[in-house]
Amino acid sequence: MTDVSISQTEAALADLTLEEKASLTSGLDFWHTKPVERAGIPSIMVTDGPHGLRKQGGAGDHLGLGSSVPATCFPPAAGLGSSWDVELIERVGEALGTETAIEHVGVLLGPGINIKRSPLCGRNFEYLSEDPIVSGVLGAAIVQGIQSKGVGTSLKHFAANNQEDDRMRASSDVDPRPLREIYLRGFQRVVQDAQPWTVMCSYNKINGVYASEDPWLLTQVLRDEWGFEGLVVSDWGAVNDRVQGLPAGLDLEMPSSGGRTDAQLVAAVQAGELDEHALDIAAGRVIDLVRKAQAGRGLVEGPLDVDAHHALAREAAGRSIVLLRNAEVGDGGAVLPLAKDRKLAVVGAFAEKPRYQGAGSSLINPTRLDTALDEIRALAAGEVAYAQGFSVAADVSAEETAALREAAVAEASAADAVVLFLGLPARLESEGYDRDDIDLPAEQLALVDAVLAVNPNVVVVLSNGGVVALPFADRVPAILEGWLLGQAGGGATADVLFGDVNPSGKLAETIPARLSDTPAYLDFPGEFGHVRYGEGLFVGYRWYDARGLEVAFPFGHGLSYTTFAYSDASATVDADGDVQVAVTVTNTGAVPGREIVQVYTSLAGSAVQRPVRELKAFASVELEPGEARDVVLTVRRADLAYWDVRVDGWVVEGGAYAVDVAASSRDIRSTVSVEVAGDAVAIPLTRESSLGEALAHPVAGPIIQAAMAQMMQGLEGIESVMPEGVSMDRMMMSFPIGRMSMMGGDVTPEMIDGLIAMANAGQH
Ligand code: BGC
Repeated sequence: MTDVSISQTEAALADLTLEEKASLTSGLDFWHTKPVERAGIPSIMVTDGPHGLRKQGGAGDHLGLGSSVPATCFPPAAGLGSSWDVELIERVGEALGTETAIEHVGVLLGPGINIKRSPLCGRNFEYLSEDPIVSGVLGAAIVQGIQSKGVGTSLKHFAANNQEDDRMRASSDVDPRPLREIYLRGFQRVVQDAQPWTVMCSYNKINGVYASEDPWLLTQVLRDEWGFEGLVVSDWGAVNDRVQGLPAGLDLEMPSSGGRTDAQLVAAVQAGELDEHALDIAAGRVIDLVRKAQAGRGLVEGPLDVDAHHALAREAAGRSIVLLRNAEVGDGGAVLPLAKDRKLAVVGAFAEKPRYQGAGSSLINPTRLDTALDEIRALAAGEVAYAQGFSVAADVSAEETAALREAAVAEASAADAVVLFLGLPARLESEGYDRDDIDLPAEQLALVDAVLAVNPNVVVVLSNGGVVALPFADRVPAILEGWLLGQAGGGATADVLFGDVNPSGKLAETIPARLSDTPAYLDFPGEFGHVRYGEGLFVGYRWYDARGLEVAFPFGHGLSYTTFAYSDASATVDADGDVQVAVTVTNTGAVPGREIVQVYTSLAGSAVQRPVRELKAFASVELEPGEARDVVLTVRRADLAYWDVRVDGWVVEGGAYAVDVAASSRDIRSTVSVEVAGDAVAIPLTRESSLGEALAHPVAGPIIQAAMAQMMQGLEGIESVMPEGVSMDRMMMSFPIGRMSMMGGDVTPEMIDGLIAMANAGQH
């Protein structure tokens, strides 16, 4: 692929009229950029995404209503994220890029990497994780995969778009630390590691400012700090004030505004309200994007290998399934994997009519669709009965529900084992609105009890985009969390049930015990256009750990049909300041398997508020029975940094970090310590600085220390009036130094100011 040279773009711009430049900065229609044919600038097509190509032929819509060309429906992000598998996800990205290129689409609108702040977000199925490292690392892999095929991506929705209710208006009111450390960190990672061709700004406001017109977000952070080189596109209809948005950094408005906002831009330039240079920059970025898309043309040609991509979708789905529980029943050993010759009852409507993707703009028209029932029958050697068990329709009579349940119970009682497919009916989660609760429908919960009463060998398979409460978790011996698995999910489920694939997925989000335990419970979805991110940094497992709450299944959890032992963990700082963590992982069971190793860090006695532990790195390793391998994971120094509001920048605090090498956030296998040198933070002293801060200052500290020692000599006996065990120092530490002169004694304001001046001069 050829790089677009700046001069080429500048030459093209010089040739354009003001009106033509303005016209480039908004869409032609729903899915195309505008051409300027006279100047040889063609139009390109951009389209959804993210887990397949949704290329519409006729009139477009962003609700997934109109039909689109058949494309492979890979597992949506909720599934794929549970694979924690960078290599696999990059391959899925390559396949997505191939399908995009074959259809001559320039940009696939994804991935979506917003943090799952609340399980109630209706669009969580389209997002990867509650953790920014998982979202960022996996998001970068998708972008790299797609863009390797000469087409672009759109990293979305930038930023702090963590709910659907009121999404086009609400202000996400987030403090600087959580904004940087949780909500922006993943975006930063993808931008810096993978340079997506475009970033899509979100609908919402952030701290009162629309993302589509926020110069801090779109220019200062995205470009000046992170070095983003591509184009910023609006989410569809996210533009509030185009004339304000363009110089803030919103290059391309989508979809078409019918020429209305182009005319506004022209008028603003003519009136001297908008610098034409800002328009040149935005139009230039559109030209760059069009050229990149043109240069990528022909890198991949059709026809699409439908079978190969379906097979990849099956492999990806198999790695996305999480084995939550696999208990022994009686003397029969663990329920899973199922022996192929057992007599099975498959129960549940989702076995026959899969829920495999979410509703809204990401709705893919699949090239084919596996059902779990057919695929179980294809792999089984014994009899497989089926009963619907429940209806997913909104209005079902009590009689019908009872009849469906009874028929299912009859099949269950006649079988050796029951595979019970439960999940959320499609209407309960979608783009555009949030969920009311995290419960499975009551008839499904009743069915679990009815089936358990006649057959203890029950495997529950879940189909859900957002997490569901699992009140039966300690009664059902085996549970597979299948999320939404894409078009080949049925086959993948059969593979895992029978052990043809050993499950290796791990939860990229916590499954809470109760909705009321969740971090954003009291602040979701906000009121009167504002949603306060009151839980701060404590999102997902960070919250449950800090509060010591029990959860149904913790972040990072996932079982296998084999077992893994961890040994010889170590952590050292390398020449770049990154922490290299090594551990030996051994497959101690009887079948081959794949383990996802996780590294969390913490810093005892930190100067800032911190979660109990935070994920910093992960890796997966495949092992034959008995095989041992050394796994090396890199914790980037930058990922140890917290956002310091005093200096408005990232700071790595020095100290002995605890490094937890873990199989889940609550299954720590080994903890080692590593000494990390901190960043020097130069905080100027002021009269407002506390005595504690002044004492910690390299110049002022020793001087004050000496002065205090002298002062204390004159105050002999003072300790006797303090509460027992409390020293005078403790009481004084938060005293502002500017007020020392008001406490009597010999200290004058001039002396304080002199000390401050000396300290600040010595610091630079
Ligand atoms: C969604 C985007 C999508 C766009 C185009 C919007 O409503 O938020 O994710 O890419 O529509 O369909």
